[in-house]
Amino acid sequence: MDDKERVAVITGGGRGIGAAAGLRFIKAGFHVYFADLNFIRAQQFVESLKSFQSHAHPLSLDVTSDDSVMEAIDIVGKKHGHINVLINNAGITNQQPTVETSVSDWQMMIDTHLTGAFRCSKAAFPFLKGATDASIINVSSIAGAMGMPIRASYCAAKAGLEGLTRSLATEWSKDGIRVNAVAPGWVLTDLIQKDLDSGLVSEELLSSRISLKRLGKPDEIGEVMFFLASNASSYMTGQVLRVDGGLSIDLNPGNVNAVRTNS
Ligand SMILES: NC(=O)c1ccc[n+]([C@@H]2O[C@H](COP(=O)([O-])OP(=O)(O)OC[C@H]3O[C@@H](n4cnc5c(N)ncnc54)[C@H](O)[C@@H]3O)[C@@H](O)[C@H]2O)c1
Repeated sequence: MDDKERVAVITGGGRGIGAAAGLRFIKAGFHVYFADLNFIRAQQFVESLKSFQSHAHPLSLDVTSDDSVMEAIDIVGKKHGHINVLINNAGITNQQPTVETSVSDWQMMIDTHLTGAFRCSKAAFPFLKGATDASIINVSSIAGAMGMPIRASYCAAKAGLEGLTRSLATEWSKDGIRVNAVAPGWVLTDLIQKDLDSGLVSEELLSSRISLKRLGKPDEIGEVMFFLASNASSYMTGQVLRVDGGLSIDLNPGNVNAVRTNS
């Protein structure tokens, strides 16, 4: 086993935040497995990386399937002998009034975001244990700490993921594995573009409520993931880093004159 060869697996790595994060890790010398339900998407992304292709590997993986997760993680673990970084990033959205949400839709959301992270972490554990600077990064959302109408299952799944992050951090610290989470605000990816195109959300309105007055870019989340996997965060575990342009810290969004002193 050559533990100098650093290996990262990113679920949902075929596009968006996962793809951007993967490129960041490749630039730092990692071998990155872009593990996606949509294998062709992962393959096309890898092909687009041109000079970085030697370190980029598409991988077919469905986080909702025990067999698929075991098989995919095993391929990587057995090939390299270890996995240094697992990023549980695969995600879907589902906007539905709660009274119209079926139990199967609810379960799909929990299965993808929460159980998927549990499944992948459990499968990767033997390969993370003992690897240099081993770390898991779970991709939560500000929805893990804040509420949103018509997204109860998403908010519940992300809140659960933050609980899983803290628990695994306490349990696996003895195995040399740090577990942290990143919680993005609105980030311009295909996932959000769909909502912008349908008029469900407006970029102008969203931006007006964000302290930095714009949506985030996928590579801005990738940078924070890289920080969480690097030695620069060696004393951090069980933490959730909110990367939201100030969206979750503003009590009076968009109104800088809201609090005036009496004169
Ligand atoms: N974009 C945002 O504004 C935002 C904000 C907060 C959190 N997030 C979270 O970031 C993560 C990535 O989001 P994104 O915006 O890049 O989304 P995206 O839709 O662009 O990419 C998600 C990827 O996950 C893959 N995927 C879906 N189900 C899967 C499964 N069962 N197994 C494996 N792969 C699967 C998709 O094929 C897709 O390639 C998600 O967990 C999302 O909840 C996104």
